Amino acid sequence: MSITTQAVTTQAVTMQAVTPVILDGDPGHDDAIAWMLALAHPRLDVRAITTVAGNAPIEQTTLNMLRLATLFGAEDVPLAQGCSRPLVAPPQAAPSVHGASGLDGPTLPEPTVALQECSGVELMARILRTSDRPVWIIATGPLTNVATLLMAYPDVKEQIAGISFMGGGIRSGNWTPAAEFNMLVDPEAASVVFASGIPLLMAGLDVTEKAMIMEEDVERIRQVGGVAGHSAGGGPGGTSITEIVAEWLEFFFGFHRELGYEGAPVHDPVAVVALTHPEILTGQDMVVSIETSGAYTRGATVGDVYHTTGKAPNTRVFLDIEREAYVDLIVEAVEHFSEVTPS
Ligand code: RIB
Ligand code: CA
Repeated sequence: MSITTQAVTTQAVTMQAVTPVILDGDPGHDDAIAWMLALAHPRLDVRAITTVAGNAPIEQTTLNMLRLATLFGAEDVPLAQGCSRPLVAPPQAAPSVHGASGLDGPTLPEPTVALQECSGVELMARILRTSDRPVWIIATGPLTNVATLLMAYPDVKEQIAGISFMGGGIRSGNWTPAAEFNMLVDPEAASVVFASGIPLLMAGLDVTEKAMIMEEDVERIRQVGGVAGHSAGGGPGGTSITEIVAEWLEFFFGFHRELGYEGAPVHDPVAVVALTHPEILTGQDMVVSIETSGAYTRGATVGDVYHTTGKAPNTRVFLDIEREAYVDLIVEAVEHFSEVTPS
């Protein structure tokens, strides 16, 4: 049975002239590319970046965040370390995919930026409470920080415009047969988010496995004129952001090639594109629930595709993407940073 898809109406995600966002993730090669897209987009106002334990332990994902903020010249963006472990489950990482550091491959600049004194969840709450308008959260790792925020600071919920997240998969998992990694690491946190009533945009495996970057796309990226990473940091020895992104993708290819992929599904940037370019996505609004107790299905996102529950949908689930347009957006973000002339 095919899932009927509909063009994603943009009402729910029509961006304002400038849309404030908080980036929360577990960098992570694809988190890094997602953050590059967000920081490059003229109509996204990145108000904060926070880390969560996921691809690698929190110390690593946080060091990676500091290096990425240096590389992308995000000196003015408040940065904070988030939760070091899931709400209930023991931590689990993905060194087979991202390496022990969580971002293996090209050497990145030593950080020239510092963490806020507060925790990631406290920073999220502060940004939301002081924002002049509701803020989108773009989550590309386990939802531990977001769930903790909602439980610890219930007053901020009305200041959250929505949550655009990479996670789950209606048809299958990638870390178990039923569960995608981000959802599997912290199903209890995902359960809090799915029950929150906040507008949810889900970039799950149904769409991100189609967000495939091929070898020829990497070669196209390599053609982008590269200058050293931002003057605030830059790649060591003037490694250009162009080269760094190409090497991230090459590293990411390694794991997926062994699984027989013809390219690399670059998952996380789809959660950014869901806000900036919803027109290249198609999907369906549906009720999504998260399994937290199944012996074989813990972490599964169960989508009510045929509206059997009769309940009102809680999630917009993306199911397809215009792949070429997606690649263009990644190339444009690399071009943006390659035009930064170190001061
Ligand atoms: O399953 C893919 C997700 O898990 C991505 O967010 C990747 O970065 C890892 O966190
Ligand atoms: Ca991630």
